[in-house]
Amino acid sequence: MKIKFTVNGKKVVVDCEPSKTLLKVLREDLFLTGTKEGCGKGECGACTVIMDAMAVNSCIIPIGQVAGKSLNTIEGLSKSGELHPLQKAFIEEGAVQCGFCIPGMILSAKALLDINKNPSTNDIKVALSGNLCRCTGYTKIIEAVKKSAIMMRAQR
Ligand code: FES
Ligand code: FES
Repeated sequence: MKIKFTVNGKKVVVDCEPSKTLLKVLREDLFLTGTKEGCGKGECGACTVIMDAMAVNSCIIPIGQVAGKSLNTIEGLSKSGELHPLQKAFIEEGAVQCGFCIPGMILSAKALLDINKNPSTNDIKVALSGNLCRCTGYTKIIEAVKKSAIMMRAQR
């Protein structure tokens, strides 16, 4: 079955079973391997992407439900070789260790910052509550999201 949607501003068409997960289509058909597979069951957030402005777990979404939608993945964040403020802040704050959870963390944070330019610590904790990290202990991740919010407000 042919399914059309948009990824990082580009229209794409994939030809596959409609039950194949969005995560597998991103990684295997579109070679966008920045989106990671952790649990594969909708529990860890490693596979988070933004679909029509909502952070979603791509491992539990059949591609048949993605027809006509607009997606953002980690590959689409940098512009003209310049890292997104979230990516810069995560690096500067030392919020990245093994990195496996980070694409999902950053996309959940982006979905928050797109609707809330000045989130409280609690807002950030709620937005990232579905994203598990085994390495960093979350404090630096939350600081990185706060810092990127400041950077993004300064850009506007
Ligand atoms: Fe999708 Fe864990 S891999 S939520
Ligand atoms: Fe390793 Fe989060 S940095 S799981």
